Amino acid sequence: MKIDFANLQYQHELYKDEIENAILKVARNCNFIMGNEVQELEKSLEEFTGAKYAISCSNGTDALLLAMMALGIGVGDEVITTPFTFIATAETIAFLGATPVFVDIDEKTYNLDSTKIETKITSKTKAIIPVSLYGQPANMDEIHKIAQKHNLKVIIDGAQSFGSTYKGITDSALGDISTTSFFPAKPLGCYGDGGAVFANDEELANKMKSLRLHGQSKRYHHKYIGMGGRLDTIQAAVLNVKLKYYPKDLLLRQEVAKKYTKALEHKSNLILPYVDEKTTSAWAQYSVRVKNRDELQEKLKLAGIPTAVHYPMPLHLQECFAYLGYKKGDFPISEIVSDEIMSLPMNPYVTDEEIEHIVWKL
Ligand SMILES: Cc1ncc(COP(=O)(O)O)c(C=O)c1O
Repeated sequence: MKIDFANLQYQHELYKDEIENAILKVARNCNFIMGNEVQELEKSLEEFTGAKYAISCSNGTDALLLAMMALGIGVGDEVITTPFTFIATAETIAFLGATPVFVDIDEKTYNLDSTKIETKITSKTKAIIPVSLYGQPANMDEIHKIAQKHNLKVIIDGAQSFGSTYKGITDSALGDISTTSFFPAKPLGCYGDGGAVFANDEELANKMKSLRLHGQSKRYHHKYIGMGGRLDTIQAAVLNVKLKYYPKDLLLRQEVAKKYTKALEHKSNLILPYVDEKTTSAWAQYSVRVKNRDELQEKLKLAGIPTAVHYPMPLHLQECFAYLGYKKGDFPISEIVSDEIMSLPMNPYVTDEEIEHIVWKL
């Protein structure tokens, strides 16, 4: 048996005619930049997420930049985030000249530990960026409470969690600004790079729209220093098709996760994912913890089972952040989880036979 990790090929086969026609239509119209498909997508994203404003952009990294630029974050500011995430979350803070300030994660959800945030707040702190890791929103009530008390903004990095909810509200509608990524392997992926930012505040939304287009207020008149951050029309066309089927895909991902959990419950060598009762996860990953990870990965590989590690080194120990002065031992939970975490094949189409095969080898 040979198992596919994200199974993008199967998904393409499912929606092939519609997606290929949508791409062909853009090719024939030649509306490659900001064509109608982009506005259509943004409207559908607003309807799906419940966020008042959705603005598509070039990728999930630029989405974070747009969010922070809109909030005026830059040199001299501090932004609190998790060290257990993809580099983009903290890299963008540093890219804008601000300082990433790390706070360790919760041992069960692997998301920012809200009880540890307040001790890191200084007069320079401008925002908190929780990441909805593996698809699950962080403890948003507590994070919002702290943000309100200290007059901070909340940017949710929802690159992995499009369609997840916290107390019934999508995480795209929950931040002062929320972001997402449409990287192909994300729960809702396009056929290249793509992303979006979400806001409920009109002024912030308009500013991000302008920043995405080189800060222009009208053609060749530039109010802000911005960026070339648009989503290609072809990617919007693909997403318009895939978004229609996304509610079904999300349910299938949740089903797959349930099946994994049921089948793995008795395995004493594994720590399984924990989903808080206030949240629903988009299940970007199904990640387990295991002590002998490298050995097990090798064994699974030989059995045709691909695995991945999200992420093997926490950000405070990355070479690029050496200047921040952190050291091993500063964020013990992030460090332990980085050593033990391993993601199993996850997509809406994992079959019962595949799960059986994986469980047998674990
Ligand atoms: C948590 C997180 N933030 C940001 C990003 C960046 O998204 P993109 O690859 O679309 O730039 C990713 C993508 O892997 C991510 O997982």
